[in-house]
Amino acid sequence: MGRKVIALLGSPLPDGNTARLLDEAIRGAEEAGCDVERIVAAHLDVAPCMEIFYCQENETCEIRDEMIGIYDKFREMDGLIIATPVMTMGIPGRLKSFMDRFQVFYMAKYHRGRSFISPEQRRRRKMLFISIAGMNLPTVFEGAKMTAKAFGEIIDCPYWDEVLRNDMDTIQDIRTRPEVMEAAYRKGYELGQLLSSR
Ligand SMILES: Cc1cc2nc3c(=O)[nH]c(=O)nc-3n(C[C@H](O)[C@H](O)[C@H](O)COP(=O)(O)O)c2cc1C
Repeated sequence: MGRKVIALLGSPLPDGNTARLLDEAIRGAEEAGCDVERIVAAHLDVAPCMEIFYCQENETCEIRDEMIGIYDKFREMDGLIIATPVMTMGIPGRLKSFMDRFQVFYMAKYHRGRSFISPEQRRRRKMLFISIAGMNLPTVFEGAKMTAKAFGEIIDCPYWDEVLRNDMDTIQDIRTRPEVMEAAYRKGYELGQLLSSR
């Protein structure tokens, strides 16, 4: 069996530009021998964190929705690919709410001092971050990257590498930029190879 990779889409559009890049990265990871599961955050029935703090003492969340099954998948995975558009200079709300529900992992790691992820697992785990933005601003990815990096630390799947493309309002269709599609494929493949090589 290949290494497990989760491919998390932040865009609500299953066939949008972000999804196209994610699918290239998935193709790369699969060709490198990984088993990839695609999750569309915007299509999950997941509530935002309600700050009940049940997870301070328990290894799960009191809100019994689709996140419960997701927690196990994020404990078991070897790699994570996040692909998201920039929205309001950060990540889309549904994706952010999804990440906030990993307070369950935060409490285990930082409050109780026992991460769900062993040190050996953490050494192997890696996150590839793919993002696109409409505007042509040098700072346009700062908010999204900061969130992705913080999330990577909380779930012990550190930020490894990135594919970023701004100016999508001008570009419109990412397929007119084959070098970006190629970069997504290549990084996905590289991620898959790194995960499979140990
Ligand atoms: C609600 C919303 C907010 C957005 N906010 C920003 C923004 O703050 N900065 C930016 O550069 N682009 C912003 N965009 C543009 C998207 O990042 C861009 O259109 C992207 O290509 C969408 O990718 P997708 O079609 O794969 O979802 C926003 C788009 C939407 C729908």
